[in-house]
Amino acid sequence: MFFMKDNTLPEYYEFFNSVKVISGYKALENIPYELSQLGAKKPIIITDKGIVKAGLIKHVIKSFQGTKITIGAVYDDTPVDSSNVVVDEIAEIYRQKGCDSIIAVGGGSAIDTAKGVNIVISEDSDDLLKLMGNNRLTKPMKPFVVIPTTAGTGSEVTMAAVIANPSKNVKMQFTSALMLPKLAVLDPRMTLSMPARITAATSMDALTHAVEAFIGPQKNPISDAFATAAIELIRDNIVDAVKHGGNADVRLAMANAALLAGLAFSNSMVGIVHAAAHATGGICHVPHGVANSILLPHGLDLYIRKSGEAKKALHLKQNIEKVLLPLAGPEQYMKVPARERAQGAVKAIRDLTANLNKICGLPVRLSQAGVIENSLPEIAQATINDGAIAFSPVEVSYEEALALIKAAF
Ligand SMILES: [Fe+2]
Repeated sequence: MFFMKDNTLPEYYEFFNSVKVISGYKALENIPYELSQLGAKKPIIITDKGIVKAGLIKHVIKSFQGTKITIGAVYDDTPVDSSNVVVDEIAEIYRQKGCDSIIAVGGGSAIDTAKGVNIVISEDSDDLLKLMGNNRLTKPMKPFVVIPTTAGTGSEVTMAAVIANPSKNVKMQFTSALMLPKLAVLDPRMTLSMPARITAATSMDALTHAVEAFIGPQKNPISDAFATAAIELIRDNIVDAVKHGGNADVRLAMANAALLAGLAFSNSMVGIVHAAAHATGGICHVPHGVANSILLPHGLDLYIRKSGEAKKALHLKQNIEKVLLPLAGPEQYMKVPARERAQGAVKAIRDLTANLNKICGLPVRLSQAGVIENSLPEIAQATINDGAIAFSPVEVSYEEALALIKAAF
């Protein structure tokens, strides 16, 4: 690792994560033991129809055969955009069946739904709406296991959930360290069948988490270590995961990368790229990973241009330069002159997304991803209103957000 002399510690920082991670072939088989250690005997499984159809849930159920743990219920109807109505409905099933713990199996929606169910049950409520917001929760949560089936969101190690409130047409944010799962299970069987383009998009979401965490104002030595490790794993495995999805080694590496990136960004947060991706997703329904993949190089371009405006202690440009090292590897890094390394990092990401476009058709422009031109001003406005903008290392105006969206269009 090449450290710069200006690599100072933040004046103050916090880092917290309490999730136990088990990773490997047959990791699923250890869940019953882990649950019994947590005092649980009857979990509810929360998943969606796609996971059942892909045959993934049977691996989970099979792992309980011959153990003392009984599966209390399997809820497999989680929609893509889950809501408080779904959460309250599952909480009711949990109570009726006498469950005592929760296992989420799926992507972002199933995991966030399960976090919502845990809130309602643990706070002994019947209505998620009453518990919305940051740090509103007070009671210890039920034992909660997450088995991610995509390698991207990192939700298995994050303390936040986003759940829709359809009656008001808004997305509600819940944040509390109490919401952290007790256990994250990475087993390559759960991501083996993910299609190439979804693999590419979710991997780029993970890369964006790691890169934004590494250059954001809340970065710290611990988040840096996780972000760097995530970027290296992604560099070495992303193309293989897209091309040869049946390779379990590569899948396990990407699942680890997504988890590491989740550990990094759940503490040091994400910035302009995620703000614009949330806006693009909300207005034009561009999948989250696709939007991040398209917007990441443009967000970095903006940061490089405005790096002089960042607080000096943030070393914004130097941090982007440093991203090139894990992103390209030491050999490539040394070939790029120091003054070109920030742009070199952007180029490395552009080269990667161009390659993914060739391999599986991952869009590289918003216009290829279903965004229509006259929605760009609305997207720019939503970008500067998004919560993630608070963690951008530089101020971003409406005009600058619009220029970014137009450049990505
Ligand atoms: Fe993300």
